[in-house]
Amino acid sequence: MLFKFLKLPFNVLKSLRRYVEEIIGYSISNKFIKIYKGNVTTVDKASLNDVLKIFNQNFPNRSEKKLIRYSQLFQNIFYVLQYNGKSVGYCSYYIQPTLSLRRIRKFAVIFSIAVDFNFSRKGFGEALLRESIKELKANNIESIWLFVNAENNAAIGLYKKIGFETIDIIENMYGKGKSGYKMRLLLN
Ligand SMILES: CC(C)(COP(=O)(O)OP(=O)(O)OC[C@H]1O[C@@H](n2cnc3c(N)ncnc32)[C@H](O)[C@@H]1OP(=O)(O)O)[C@@H](O)C(=O)NCCC(=O)NCCS
Repeated sequence: MLFKFLKLPFNVLKSLRRYVEEIIGYSISNKFIKIYKGNVTTVDKASLNDVLKIFNQNFPNRSEKKLIRYSQLFQNIFYVLQYNGKSVGYCSYYIQPTLSLRRIRKFAVIFSIAVDFNFSRKGFGEALLRESIKELKANNIESIWLFVNAENNAAIGLYKKIGFETIDIIENMYGKGKSGYKMRLLLN
């Protein structure tokens, strides 16, 4: 009981911090300079429906609530790949700002990435990452972070191919005995 009581202010502070980070992240991504990215666009009302189908196909047990929220809050860094007039994959990021002595340092975190089952292993995941990374780099993002299930060989293969390195192993991150990797790609 006492432990629960002591935890309350800590949780409130944590939520407040995340809220402030989201506001700063929003204002950073909102000012993003757009570059040409071929078949990769940013999410809009029409493509969000396809994106949600791909999300539910790949992550049937997860809630789509946060993905919808990020499609609005971080719309400029929510990338969608078009193929023959259809959205076949997406990569959604959020900005993680960090205060240093003289400036705000800008990191991007991959919140979710997936490709439609019917279009897998055709280079679409790689194209989504490469094109979005070009734009993040052009906007002075220092590095990109992500978390991945250590058993997800397809995603790990993709991240390694792009140049991500594993910087931490988090035990039990995806359930008992199921580790996660924290991976990072330095951009500058
Ligand atoms: C991970 C994912 C996005 C890859 O997309 P994709 O379009 O199928 O991948 P690509 O065709 O662009 O492949 C690029 C590289 O990724 C790796 N890769 C992709 N699928 C793989 C698989 N099934 N097994 C091993 N490596 C694989 C390979 O290194 C591949 O390069 P190669 O073709 O030269 O060998 C896709 O498998 C997916 O949507 N997975 C389910 C959702 C998911 O797990 N998201 C990540 C959560 S962290």
